[in-house]
Amino acid sequence: MKQKEIEKYKQAGKILREVRKESKDYIEEGQKLIEIAKFIEDKIKQGGAKPAFPVNISLNEIAAHYTPKKDDQTKVEKDDILTIDMGVHIDGYIADSAYTLDFGDNKELIQASKKAVEKAIQKVEEKGAGISITEISQTIEYQIKKRGFNPIANLTGHGLKKYETHSEPSIPNVKTPNSEKLHENQIVAIEPFATDGSGRVKEGSNPQIFSLKQTKQRGVRDRNARKILKKIKKEYKTLPFAKRWLTQFKKLNFSLKKLQQKNILRSYSPLKDRENGLVSQAEETIIVKENSCEKTT
Ligand code: CO
Repeated sequence: MKQKEIEKYKQAGKILREVRKESKDYIEEGQKLIEIAKFIEDKIKQGGAKPAFPVNISLNEIAAHYTPKKDDQTKVEKDDILTIDMGVHIDGYIADSAYTLDFGDNKELIQASKKAVEKAIQKVEEKGAGISITEISQTIEYQIKKRGFNPIANLTGHGLKKYETHSEPSIPNVKTPNSEKLHENQIVAIEPFATDGSGRVKEGSNPQIFSLKQTKQRGVRDRNARKILKKIKKEYKTLPFAKRWLTQFKKLNFSLKKLQQKNILRSYSPLKDRENGLVSQAEETIIVKENSCEKTT
């Protein structure tokens, strides 16, 4: 990878760190999730970057892929745990990070995913390129289980590429037979999820997040759908976007449905623990170096 690209990954990470800090100071009990989402996404833009995906705001048993609707009335309430997963990109070069806040009595659950990501990164730092992915997964699983929780087995860390939020390799949160190793200059997001529930997530309904599946399309006859598609290709390319980002378009729901039927868009339904356990998450992005690694976030 070129130095110029590395610099953009780092710059995206720098902006993310700043917004992450501001968001931690900003968020409090009683706020609507939509206010939090707007605060974070606006700060990313003010920082000179763009959201790499709609900020995911997950309450309690939700693990991922929930972003508030335009008129969402959901609020942060006493005893909730709240996860913020944000992505920042500069020209498609992405930084991805998540943290969980406690409004009740779940310090240990939050500590479990936090320690897991810290220890996993420490391993990569010690060994650098060539470290096996299994070793990272094993570290994550151990850190979560020793605190009495379950890692979520069907959610994984992932590589990051230009305009791709989830590329190879995947980094499981439980030890999985895998001989794959990390390579120098790979950009990787490590994201353990810990739960007091089953450790597997299932899909909910009413997705608010979508992304372009393929860049070549034909046969979209509907005028509104064509306009929306044009906007998506120009603004978001293959990065995920929120329905609430497109409210200026007429017949939005109908058009999004058409584009999904034509296999042009994919949707991301909210994911929650199968037994409705509480879920915490921690995530950081790293650049793998020959003998260490560098955290961008
Ligand atoms: Co991620």
